[in-house]
Amino acid sequence: MSISSPAIRERKRRRGSPPLVMVTAYDEPGARYVDAAGVDIILVGDSLANVVLGQPDTLHVSASDIAHHVRAVAAATPRAHVVADLPWLSYHVSEADTVTNAGLLIRAGAQSVKLEGGRNRLPMVRALLNAEIPVMGHLGLTPQSVLAFGGFKVQAKTREAAKLLLEDAHALQDEGVYALVLEGVPSDVGTMVTEALDIPTIGIGAGPNTDGQVLVFHDLLGMSSRPSAKFVRQYADLGTVITQAVSAFASDVRSGDYPNESESYAPVPEAD
Ligand code: KIV
Repeated sequence: MSISSPAIRERKRRRGSPPLVMVTAYDEPGARYVDAAGVDIILVGDSLANVVLGQPDTLHVSASDIAHHVRAVAAATPRAHVVADLPWLSYHVSEADTVTNAGLLIRAGAQSVKLEGGRNRLPMVRALLNAEIPVMGHLGLTPQSVLAFGGFKVQAKTREAAKLLLEDAHALQDEGVYALVLEGVPSDVGTMVTEALDIPTIGIGAGPNTDGQVLVFHDLLGMSSRPSAKFVRQYADLGTVITQAVSAFASDVRSGDYPNESESYAPVPEAD
C-alpha cells in the first residue's frame, strides 16, 4: 500500500514527524531507484520539460506529456506517494478543464496533483477536491510564472511580498490542500510559513526549517546540463559515470573485444 495524501497531511515536524523526502522521477527505472531509497513522495514534475526533454523552461509540456511519464513511474508500483504536476495552461482556463486534465494524471497512476499559485487558483483547487482529487500547492518561485517574473528569481524578498505569500498559503490550506511546496524563498520566509501552517511544507531553496525537502532527480545525481541552483546538493556524478561506461563500450566495440565468446550464442551445429 503506498503512502496516502491524508498520511502526508499529518507529517508536521513540530508534531514529531520525521522530515518528508520528495524526489522527482519521470520513468520506471528512476521511480524504482528512488523508491528503493525510501523516499516518501515521488513527484512527476513538469521539470520533465527542462531536465528530460531539453526545453528552456516548464512551459513546454502538456497534461498528456506528464500522463505519459506518470504511467511509467506508476509501473514501478512504488511505496512512495506519486504526485503529478498539472502543467502550465492545464488548470488556468476553466474548472472543467482542470478536472479533466487532473483526471488524465490520476488515470495514468498519480495519487494526487500539484498546482502552482495561491488565491488566484482557489476555484481550481475547489473543483479538484470536489472531484475527490487530492491537491498539493506550490508557492514562491513557481517556475510556470517565469515569464511573468522576468526570470527564475527568488520570491518573497520584501516584508510585503512575504505577507502576501503567507496569505496565499493560508488560503490554500483553508481550501484543503494537503501539503505545500515552497520554492526559492528566503529561509526565514520558509520558517515563518511552516510555523503558521498545520499542513506540511516541502521546501526547495526555502531553508532548513520546512517539514520536508524536495530535489530534482537529475540535479541530485549530477545528470543535469543546466547550472545548479544555490540550493542543489549533488550526491553523485552519474553523468560522468554514464559517459565513462559508454566510452568503455565504444572502445571495446572498436577494438573487437566486444562481444567475446561468452557473450555470443553457440554456433549452429554441423550437419552429420
Ligand atoms: O517540477 C518540479 O520538479 C517541481 C519541483 C521543483 C518542486 O515542481
